[in-house]
Amino acid sequence: MKKFFILANWKSNKTIGEAEEWIKQLTTYNLPASPVSGQLTTNLEIILCPPFTILYPLKLSIEKLQLPIKLGAQDISPFPDGPYTGEVSGKMIAELAFYVLVGHSERRTYFEEKEQMIAQKIEMAISFNLTPIVCVSHLDEVKSLPCGFSGIILYEPISAIGTGEPDTPENANRMAERIKDFLGDIPIIYGGSVTSENVVSFLSQPRISGVGAGKASLDPLEFLKIVRNAAKI
Ligand code: PGA
Repeated sequence: MKKFFILANWKSNKTIGEAEEWIKQLTTYNLPASPVSGQLTTNLEIILCPPFTILYPLKLSIEKLQLPIKLGAQDISPFPDGPYTGEVSGKMIAELAFYVLVGHSERRTYFEEKEQMIAQKIEMAISFNLTPIVCVSHLDEVKSLPCGFSGIILYEPISAIGTGEPDTPENANRMAERIKDFLGDIPIIYGGSVTSENVVSFLSQPRISGVGAGKASLDPLEFLKIVRNAAKI
């Protein structure tokens, strides 16, 4: 059975209180999970990427409620611990999360992240056993990844991010195929205006192993619908 990743990227949204409210509505009863083990009864892996300030409270809530959710950070310092004001190191993130987003197009655009820094961040994630989820919007960004990259790729065309105009599932699948031509058979997930209405059309594509939702993940009920629809495949 094919494994699917359902990723929620909250970006720069939600206070601790708002996050706790979101979690309250996503109890193990609501998720398609076994009430006994807390594990998803399906082949889904739910990854929640909140802001750094909420990782710890969410970790506590997830453990307490035994929710089948893995945490991811939205970024990682390219440096180890040390005099890098404002940065959060891989060692710190590894206490709280399993995954880390690297090179989101918003970081490339607003914070001028370039290939070398992205490569350093990937290296840092791997050295702390975090799985990097590298965001790309075109093939050049794939070609410049470090040799032997073996994390997850989140393909997000810029025109689809936050616009309500997703890529077509067929085009996303073609892109996933081309990415695999370069990187080998690693999981490729699609992001950009994913909703509960279109999630199945993306997950039905043979080369796509999941979806990343930004805006749609902020509303717990819409996110739950995404998970429920994905679980039907
Ligand atoms: P969106 O964002 O779902 O709001 O389009 C996706 C993303 O940037 O991860």
